[in-house]
Amino acid sequence: MGSIFPNEHMIPPQAKLQGFLRQTEYLINGEIRSWDGPFQEVLSPICLQTSEGPIQKVIGEYPLMAEKEALEALDSAVKAYNNGRGYWPTCSIPKRIEHLEQFAEKMKEVREEVVNLLMWEIGKNLNDSQKEFDRTVDYIQDTIAALKELDRASSKFTIEQGVIGQIRRSPLGVVLCMGPYNYPLNETFTTLIPALIMGNTVIFKPPKLGILLHQPLLKAFQQSFPQGVVNTVYGRGEKVAGPLMASGKVSALALIGSSRSANILQKQHPKPHRCRFVLGLDAKNASIILEDADLDIAVKENVLGSLSYNGQRCTALKILFVHSKIADAFLKKFVEAVEKLKCGMPWEDAQITPLPVPGKSDYLRGLVEDAQAHGARVLNSHGGLSEKTFFYPTVVYPVNAKMRLYSEEQFGPVVPVVAFDKIEEPVQYVIDSNYGQQVSIFGSDPDVIAKLIDPLVNQVCRVNINSQCQRGPDTFPFTGRKDSAEGTLSVSDALKVFSIRSLVAAKDTDTNKSIIDEIVKEHKSNFLSTDYIF
Ligand code: G3H
Repeated sequence: MGSIFPNEHMIPPQAKLQGFLRQTEYLINGEIRSWDGPFQEVLSPICLQTSEGPIQKVIGEYPLMAEKEALEALDSAVKAYNNGRGYWPTCSIPKRIEHLEQFAEKMKEVREEVVNLLMWEIGKNLNDSQKEFDRTVDYIQDTIAALKELDRASSKFTIEQGVIGQIRRSPLGVVLCMGPYNYPLNETFTTLIPALIMGNTVIFKPPKLGILLHQPLLKAFQQSFPQGVVNTVYGRGEKVAGPLMASGKVSALALIGSSRSANILQKQHPKPHRCRFVLGLDAKNASIILEDADLDIAVKENVLGSLSYNGQRCTALKILFVHSKIADAFLKKFVEAVEKLKCGMPWEDAQITPLPVPGKSDYLRGLVEDAQAHGARVLNSHGGLSEKTFFYPTVVYPVNAKMRLYSEEQFGPVVPVVAFDKIEEPVQYVIDSNYGQQVSIFGSDPDVIAKLIDPLVNQVCRVNINSQCQRGPDTFPFTGRKDSAEGTLSVSDALKVFSIRSLVAAKDTDTNKSIIDEIVKEHKSNFLSTDYIF
């Protein structure tokens, strides 16, 4: 078996990087500043052949900031919010929409650059990188549409028990947004965009991996939003996010990442009740394949669910329970399908690509060896093999509770399969799990499926029938129980998560009516208004 990694000259021209990307820029207080402190080197998961064998390509570096710069970003966001008196939190919704639309237009101009960096920084294949970018632009448009809808419903007065009221939503304050490395653009923006459009000011910290791809967007942020409304910080979480939380000035933390980081950051806020936590965390979604499942559909969805982007999705199927009566038939087809997956480089649109997390191949090898030591086998050819950052997809069977793969979230291309006889076994697994995001059920008997749906919706937040687990469509609620999430994100839910209901109320008297009438007719307030956004 030859090396999976290419020579430099095999990289197609459109995927070549424009040289070493030294990111010196960061955005604070509306200025793009130039960093002259320490830098962090960025290693691509992609190795290139050298005389010493394949070596991870160094693609650039980014500023390694610390507390001082984090607090400067905070001051800038606090100043722009100005206790709710700043231009951004008080400006009209149509005006905010204009800024967002301007940003979306500018964002589209750097699509190719960002897509290419997604491939190089996190090893996501071309098709999925393009989808991540386009889905993010769509998310902005959908958010604007949802806000218009929300605003239209609030553009009226309610008169109840002799009190006139107008109820709307207002911002929370400064929001700290942190996304994950597997969707560094999309999942950062699914919190950043709603937080901004609701009138909050924002500090955003890109994830540990997938940082340089935000650089082409800095200018777009600077040109599209007023001074201090968007600020960026780079560096280690404990050095930059810790001090931000400890300041007590962050009103909402949006973190899509690990429950470990969330626990640390939550505890650092001196008055946690003043901070809203919007968290998308760990998961170990199970697939339950019943004895009457359509095998072709089950195979297709379970391959996609467990191995798209190498299984590095929080929604990935991370353990498969298959009824023992069909286990052999299912596994035969499943292994065939896994062996057909294209392994290679992101620009080749390979389905299995190099992994960005340092030490990941060793970690996955450890999981597979532990399962083997407890009696499991690797079923597919090349399974368990790795080369540097590349780990071949690996189907492990039969898995049981003694193995780490049974309960640990592998977040990689290893698929543990468990055979079951009684449905109680996978159901109990879901109940006992620390996580509660989603589950998939494969079967054809409506009675059996219905009996599973009713208890399972009380254990997880989405039950998928004959379909893999997934976040989309983005208008659907995305959340979880236990260690999997806090708060709900969907296009419309996110608008609510990053705002609070505020109202103006007055006793129904002639004087009050004439005051309200004059304010509304003469457009004296952006909040107290019956303007209808078309
Ligand atoms: O990493 C978790 C993502 O939210 C998954 O999104 O299901 O659309 O891939 P997806």
